[in-house]
Amino acid sequence: SGAMDPVRAKRGLWSSRLAFILAATGSAVGLGNIWKFPYITGENGGGAFVLVYLLCIAAVGLPIMMAEVLIGRRGGLSPVNSMRAITSHEGLKPAWRWLAVIGVLAGFLILSFYSVIGGWAISYVGTAATGQLTGQTAESIGAIFSGLLSDPLTLLMWHTLFMALVMVVVARGVRSGLERAVSILMPALFVLLLVVVGYAMTTGHFGQAVAFLFQPDFSKLTTSGVLVALGHAFFTLSLGMGVMMAYGSYLPKDISIAKTSITVSVMDTAVALLAGLAIFPIVFANGLEPGAGPGLIFQTLPLAFGQMPMGSLFGTLFFLLLIFAAWTSGISLLEPLVEWLEEQKGMNRKVSTLGAGIVCWLLGIASILSLNLWSDFAPLGMFAMFEGKTIFDLLDFLTANILLPLGGLLVAVFVGWYMSRQALESELSMSPTVFSVWYRVLRYFTPIAVAVVFVYNLV
Ligand code: PFF
Ligand code: NA
Repeated sequence: SGAMDPVRAKRGLWSSRLAFILAATGSAVGLGNIWKFPYITGENGGGAFVLVYLLCIAAVGLPIMMAEVLIGRRGGLSPVNSMRAITSHEGLKPAWRWLAVIGVLAGFLILSFYSVIGGWAISYVGTAATGQLTGQTAESIGAIFSGLLSDPLTLLMWHTLFMALVMVVVARGVRSGLERAVSILMPALFVLLLVVVGYAMTTGHFGQAVAFLFQPDFSKLTTSGVLVALGHAFFTLSLGMGVMMAYGSYLPKDISIAKTSITVSVMDTAVALLAGLAIFPIVFANGLEPGAGPGLIFQTLPLAFGQMPMGSLFGTLFFLLLIFAAWTSGISLLEPLVEWLEEQKGMNRKVSTLGAGIVCWLLGIASILSLNLWSDFAPLGMFAMFEGKTIFDLLDFLTANILLPLGGLLVAVFVGWYMSRQALESELSMSPTVFSVWYRVLRYFTPIAVAVVFVYNLV
């Protein structure tokens, strides 16, 4: 890889293994863990879905994360150009770089609705801080939430603020302050989740929630549930769109890709499971519907904050930290596109951030309207599999369940079948046994699993 080293040297590297872990964790831990994981678990019947999800993390997500980090470190450039460098170095077809282009597109589409949900979290900071959650019932909390969804202008205001926060950081291209913030605020989010779990233990329904999450009932598992679990493994670990390639490009040579990837995956999974343990006891204690959909955490956590001592304070802090987690993920969603516009189109960073950000913001408005004025509008409703799906639902489905697994599949095939084994061994430097387990999983298990799930659902 000597030919690639001079370019890499110019870009500088993470100061340490910890810096990479913080950035990657900042991207991974976000709304996917606290907002999405609980509601899709509720919609898909609990235990069996959780089990499939955990399998997908370990047997599909982790090997692909290692492959993405490896591509990034080997190429030492932005995702698209790392792919370009590796293909030319190994004498492969340059068309492989399109897998990074799929990722750039997916990130852009995700950010458009991610920002709207980030906006919900911003709105709840105000609701919690002004004491409005105290002493509410499940019905009145539900009314606060439906009030928010039915108000396009308020949603637009918070969506705009969230996008602006993301754009400011991406435009400046400074990451150093963020790493330090991640190292303080992520543990704080973890602690606050523990506080809510502690409260959840007093509701008398904790055991029921544990059973719901961890006792698989396979009669509740559907083929579409398996696709959702697989897609979510990609979404929650920020895979299939080049983020881990981008971050991997700054990883020093002597650091273990396997160990860092395991650390990030374990932390991400821990946050998701804690969120489930915090939310489902509240669901059962209040007779709420586990399958309530995207509003689930906004209808349950506020109840807990309204009832626990110092709930307004904890609630405010919790939603602030949730915004922060969503923010670091949002930055990683926009970054690959901006880097690509910079490198490829020669645009300056501020202009490309502004351009990409504004288009993304505009697309977000379609998601906002899907929640109210356009809630009955299902653009692809004539196809059975898209029946009743609003624009917001379609964007979520297209990205998490199609584009990210497809990007991941291509990464697995590229690294597993096309890159030279010797290059992989030198990047990973693991014991031969562990290497061959990883290599086989990536070559055979991962592509077949993704392909089978695709075929079952799409045909
Ligand atoms: N992993 C983030 C979450 O769980 O909230 C979302 C995300 C960020 C997905 C970055 C994909 C991505 F590239
Ligand atoms: Na996540």
